[in-house]
Amino acid sequence: MTQLSAAQTTPSGGSNALYGGKGTRRVTVRDIALAKERGEKWPMLTAYDAMTASVFDEAGIPVMLVGDSAGNCHLGYETTVPVTLDEMTVLSAAVVRGTRRALIVGDLPFGSYQEGPVQALRSATRLVKEAGVGAVKLEGGERSHEQIRLLVESGIPVMAHIGLTPQSVNAMGYRVQGRGEEAAQQLLRDAKAVQDAGAFAVVLELVPAELAAEVTRVLHIPTVGIGAGPETDAQVLVWTDMMGLTGGRVPKFVKKYADLREVMGNAAKAFAEDVVGGTFPLEEHSVH
Ligand code: KIV
Repeated sequence: MTQLSAAQTTPSGGSNALYGGKGTRRVTVRDIALAKERGEKWPMLTAYDAMTASVFDEAGIPVMLVGDSAGNCHLGYETTVPVTLDEMTVLSAAVVRGTRRALIVGDLPFGSYQEGPVQALRSATRLVKEAGVGAVKLEGGERSHEQIRLLVESGIPVMAHIGLTPQSVNAMGYRVQGRGEEAAQQLLRDAKAVQDAGAFAVVLELVPAELAAEVTRVLHIPTVGIGAGPETDAQVLVWTDMMGLTGGRVPKFVKKYADLREVMGNAAKAFAEDVVGGTFPLEEHSVH
């Protein structure tokens, strides 16, 4: 296998082979494993369409998640629960088409793997064959380890997701997970179960920073934190949250890097005013 590319110099002066690399081939789960061995941190963003994904790819984001957060952030549902496998297949295929380098991880939506390993394999196979994703993600620790094992044995890399698992919102709400000794021990058991089942990485969502740091020390696969403090191997954010496009409140763990809602709203108003005022289109925008 070719090397990803020579290690790149990050804006902060460090070197990092995953972030910012200009390699011509896609990032693989092996590159992710090597990054953990080298102690390199890496960023992951969600993406739901080809154009946005191409921007992130050009920015050097090495891993993109076609998350079922598309439910709230792209498709207009209130939660991730209604998202279907057909929808995830269409969105994942668009993100794959829009990118050349990033590893694309497709999320298995609620109801597409809970029945058992065979259902999980059938659903994951669709994302791999029809959409072209390089890996899939599913929620659950001990409760999902049989699904993870069969997918991995079948040649499909799996990113696990423990802590807050939004597909279970009706049972658990949106609350910090792993608080208290018993809950912390359960989270550690979940983390080890997904690693033992063969997951190549695990998302830790909304868990105390100290616990996420401990899980990161104990596991040999990378942890990807969201609301899990600074010590996980990677960090993921929902792109519409971190770019300020999501309307209403966003979780406390989100850092806002732009205000796209304001930028886009202002552009839409400027266009509307030009049209009603007769200042668009001008001669330069016209053909004869
Ligand atoms: O669906 C999603 O975007 C996710 C991330 C929050 C990890 O699962």
